[in-house]
Formats: sequence, C-alpha cells, structure tokens
Amino acid sequence: MQECGPVRRRPPIGCAARRTAGKLPDGGCAREERLKMNGENALAIDWKVPPDSLHIAKGEAHLWRADLHGGEDARDRLRQSLSADERARAERFVFERDRQRWAAGRGILREILGLYLGRHPRTLAIVNRPDGKPTLSNRCAGDPAIRFNLSHSESLAVLAVTLDQEVGVDVETYRPEVATAEIAERYFSADEQSEFRSLPENLRTEGFFLCWTRKEAFLKARGEGLRTPLDSFTVSLTPGRPPALRCQDAQRWHLSSFYPDSRSTAALVTEGSHLERRFWEWR
Ligand SMILES: CC(C)(COP(=O)(O)OP(=O)(O)OC[C@H]1O[C@@H](n2cnc3c(N)ncnc32)[C@H](O)[C@@H]1OP(=O)(O)O)[C@@H](O)C(=O)NCCC(=O)NCCS
Repeated sequence: MQECGPVRRRPPIGCAARRTAGKLPDGGCAREERLKMNGENALAIDWKVPPDSLHIAKGEAHLWRADLHGGEDARDRLRQSLSADERARAERFVFERDRQRWAAGRGILREILGLYLGRHPRTLAIVNRPDGKPTLSNRCAGDPAIRFNLSHSESLAVLAVTLDQEVGVDVETYRPEVATAEIAERYFSADEQSEFRSLPENLRTEGFFLCWTRKEAFLKARGEGLRTPLDSFTVSLTPGRPPALRCQDAQRWHLSSFYPDSRSTAALVTEGSHLERRFWEWR
C-alpha cells in the first residue's frame, strides 16, 4: 500500500499486484492439489466463527483471517472505531482502495482485540513501540496481557494473538512471477539460497513463499524489521518438511506455517515452545 510522504525502500514482493489464479505455471496442476501432494493439507483448517467474548489461554496462539473488502456497513462501523491519528494515517494513502483496506484492517484489529478485552474497539489505544511494532497501551488492571501482530496481503488480513508472548505473522499472496532466483539471491541467506536451488522446479514457488513468510514473521516477532540483517538467520523452505529456524537465539522462538486460503501462504513465529493454534474467521 502506498502512503504519501517519504518513500520507504521496499522489496518488490510487498507491493500490490494482480492476484494470480491458483494455477502454477511450473507444472500445470492446481495449487490446492500440489499442497495436498506435499502433505501440507492446505485447506484443512477449520476457521471458526468466534463467540461474542473470547478467552485466550497461556499456551495458545489465535490466528484470525479477515477479508478487508467487507460491505459498506462494516466499512462505516470499522472507520468509526479508529482514533483521529488512525483516520489521518488512512487519509495519507494515495489510492482509495489502499485507504479502505488500511482502515478496514485497523478497524478489524480493534474489534478483535476488543473481544478479548471486553472493551469497545474505540476505547483501545494502539501505539507503536519505539521499534515500530504496534502494541496496546492503555491496559486496565486485570486485562489479559494480549500481544498481537497483523499482516495483510491485498484484501486478506491475518492477525495473530497470544497471551504475553511475542508474536509475528506474515501472509503473502501466492504470485509465481515474483518467486525468482534473483529475488532469492537478494533477500535469502546463503543456506536458504542453496536449499531453494536444490528444490525441483515445480516446488520452487512454494518454497520461495515459505521462506519469505517465515523470514518476515521472524522479523516481525522480534519487532526490529530490517534492523535484523536478513542473512543473520536461516529458515528451512522445503515444502512438506517441518519448518526450522537457525539463529543465535533459536531456542527462544517457535516457527510454523499455514495456508489461510488456496492463494496465500502464511507463517507464525511465537516466543517460547509450541503453542496450540486456534483459527478464527472475522466477519
Ligand atoms: C515493517 C514490516 C513489518 C512490513 O511488513 P510487510 O510484509 O510489508 O507488511 P505486513 O502486512 O506483513 O505487516 C504490516 C503490519 O505489521 C505491523 N508492524 C509494523 N511495524 C512492525 C514491526 N517493526 N514489527 C512487527 N510488526 C510491525 C503493523 O501492524 C503493520 O500493519 P499496518 O501497516 O496496518 O500498521 C517489516 O517487516 C518490513 O518492512 N520488512 C521488510 C521486508 C523484507 O525485506 N523482507 C524480506 C523477507 S525475505
């Protein structure tokens, strides 16, 4: 999404692009089938409709998916829950579509956090930490220590919520045209590049997006963005194999991947050991 103001140097993958249908150019079979063949069981996630108030337990990570399009009613309601600063930020987007998506994403974030805290979305204060990672600031005594991280790709948003454990999530739309060796060389560590090259041609796009989302989710869990050098850690990327993370403090983190729908890939990094993942659908 393009905001007015100083231009940030961004990798080519984050920019909005036409959605590619679920077909792979490198093999011909539908992506869903390929994921099943890889044992990824992509579409097996049962995204549940949440109850009116939600509880998250220690040892759980809640994952939400949401469509940023929503209807006009939802759009108005979500916009009304934004703070003045957030509305001003939404106004800075150059394109109306980006403005709407950003406002919807922030409004949905507020509604979901409100479910856990039993508070009206408008009463929440979401501020950026000094490293840029958004966090809740006006907690009340007795509030659960909710942590969260949001990611969006085109009209899909994915939100991860934990209880007092750092969390990072990333979702990317599956676009074979960006999964090139040149981009891998530029952004992947030496070991990642060599694993990428070792993949058979028909698994490369899948492997590329597993790598990209895992790296991003790790950066976002740490909160440091690109202040953590991209070659200072390595993630595994072979489809169908258990995810692995190698870095100085790898014991501190847990990495997993999932598929929010047949056209996207996502990764979750949480602090501590394995958390039980629960999947919710925002409507
Ligand atoms: C800032 C960054 C979070 C952007 O990520 P992105 O993939 O463009 O966008 P996402 O949709 O996944 O995430 C954006 C959300 O992350 C959150 N976020 C912003 N800064 C963050 C930070 N420092 N840490 C964690 N989360 C952050 C915000 O909620 C933001 O949503 P908002 O714009 O609605 O406020 C950051 O990770 C970045 O710029 N990474 C560089 C990309 C790169 O080179 N990746 C290489 C991977 S191989």
